[in-house]
Amino acid sequence: MAEIKRIVILTGAGISAESGIDTFRDAGGLWEQHRVEDVATPEGFARDPMLVQRFYDLRRAVMQEVEPNPAHHALARLEREFTGELLLVTQNVDDLHERAGANPLHMHGELLSALCAICETRHPWSGTLIDGPPCPTCQAEALRPDVVWFGEMPYQMDRIYRALANCDLFVSIGTSGAVYPAAGFVQEAKRHGAQTLELNLEPSEGSHWFDVSRHSKAGELVPEWVEEMLSE
Ligand code: OAD
Repeated sequence: MAEIKRIVILTGAGISAESGIDTFRDAGGLWEQHRVEDVATPEGFARDPMLVQRFYDLRRAVMQEVEPNPAHHALARLEREFTGELLLVTQNVDDLHERAGANPLHMHGELLSALCAICETRHPWSGTLIDGPPCPTCQAEALRPDVVWFGEMPYQMDRIYRALANCDLFVSIGTSGAVYPAAGFVQEAKRHGAQTLELNLEPSEGSHWFDVSRHSKAGELVPEWVEEMLSE
């Protein structure tokens, strides 16, 4: 570990579970009583835009009432105190990493952002979208949640793959390893010679790819691991 100069960390829904935000797959294939195809695909949005807007408006409101947990705080501490390079990539659309003081790359978008379907501008957004507010840039009433749905391209993949190719350590936290391209990051990092570590409640679908897997709650595992990293 003394040789570690560049770290890439990937987080998923499991890191926010102890803050009170439901994970996806633990809910039996349903996300807050909705099928993923209905609320997380462009086709679902085309079929019933009001349902989808209401769904994300509610997620945005709920998110603003929960708090970061010790795992978010530990990663923010690592970002501050680690003397090498660190890229924190999250699949989560909540802002709990930011509220703990970290600076994550949101590869699946953000609830606190709205995307104009016409001019494709992204706007910071904390209110509702169901009422059809105009896009601040082009005035079209075509704002949608700035969340990457199935079949859409995640954000900043070039930057992520560059960091994976150059890192010495890849750490995956609280993600089931079921959704690509994020599920393939461990193989990508390994291919370039990185050490790999999984911190998850249980073995994920990709557990066998990791050099080391630790299984318990993120709120316990992540602060322990950060302490180890910073004391070496
Ligand atoms: P999942 O719900 O698929 O997986 C969450 C993982 O976290 C599971 O492996 C759980 O065992 C683990 N977990 C639950 N509680 C935990 C805790 N307290 N501590 C540590 N681990 C815990 O969520 P993701 O892997 O993030 O995509 O899902 C990936 C993507 O699928 C999401 O970003 C979303 C979804 O559909 C889009 O919306 C595009």
